[in-house]
Amino acid sequence: MAGCSEVSIEARAVDFYYPGEEDPSRAALSGINLGVKRGEYIALIGPNGSGKTTLLKLFNALLTPSSGEVLVGGLSTREEENLPVIRRRCGMIFQNPDNQLVATTVEEDIAFGMENLALPQAEIQGKVLQTASQLGLGHLLKQPPHLLSGGEKQRVAIAGILVMEPDFILMDESTAMLDPDGRREVLKTVVELNNSRGLGVIHVTHFPIEAAFARRVIVLDRGRLRGDGTPKEVLTDLTLLHGLGLQGTTAVELAALLREDGFALDSQLLHNRELVECLCLLARKN
Ligand SMILES: Nc1ncnc2c1ncn2[C@@H]1O[C@H](COP(=O)(O)OP(=O)(O)OP(=O)(O)O)[C@@H](O)[C@H]1O
Ligand SMILES: [Mg+2]
Repeated sequence: MAGCSEVSIEARAVDFYYPGEEDPSRAALSGINLGVKRGEYIALIGPNGSGKTTLLKLFNALLTPSSGEVLVGGLSTREEENLPVIRRRCGMIFQNPDNQLVATTVEEDIAFGMENLALPQAEIQGKVLQTASQLGLGHLLKQPPHLLSGGEKQRVAIAGILVMEPDFILMDESTAMLDPDGRREVLKTVVELNNSRGLGVIHVTHFPIEAAFARRVIVLDRGRLRGDGTPKEVLTDLTLLHGLGLQGTTAVELAALLREDGFALDSQLLHNRELVECLCLLARKN
């Protein structure tokens, strides 16, 4: 896999209870064992309240496990002194970019996280310019962030994380507010960085089609791991998905209905294009 290295995230026998919710039946996460390597592109799916945001916050050391351990690049999130390194390695993007934009111009916003790194001003400036142009924000550097569109704001938030050169980007429904173009723009950027720099991606999404473009899909349900495999393995398993109130991609759902009507379709069709090709093949045979 492009750019894989030793840096990884590991959850070892992690349980997490929010304060006041210590009853085991109210665990936000239970018995989570999970390893994520740098360079992986993971979609994290699950119903509302299944623990997705909590898991990302544990990886980013915003929360620490009630029992068990989370290690980022071998460093425990429990140790106060590891936190700056862990937060730099695992940048988190939230659903609503407004919560992450703090400065008066786009340029200052992107530079904000670097201010604590004691780098020379010229170096900060250079990195900000490079990251902004990579994300198509070069022409907006002097703009106040609150005047930008949702997609542009989300890209500024992403730029502010990427400028720190993290090993992982943790995206918590970061595309949910965006229109299809905005969503495509953000995902394209992340996919390119995954390919070119080996940036590890963990993307929480409720859009099956976004999960289908990951290389690994992890499923949470009521705080427990319920699935972990390739998109073809996990997203075509309608017994699992429907049991959790989730859906497959349009092609998966449609193929299931067509199979009920007697169409002999491959069981691992995931994308519309694959379904169309399969149907065309069947039509030519008949
Ligand atoms: N600050 C909190 N205090 C108490 N309980 C919380 C808190 N935040 C989340 N929870 C509970 O922890 C569980 C997991 O929540 P979490 O936000 O991780 O779910 P999620 O999978 O991200 O859901 P969604 O898809 O709705 O974003 C839920 O039962 C939720 O009610
Ligand atoms: Mg959430």
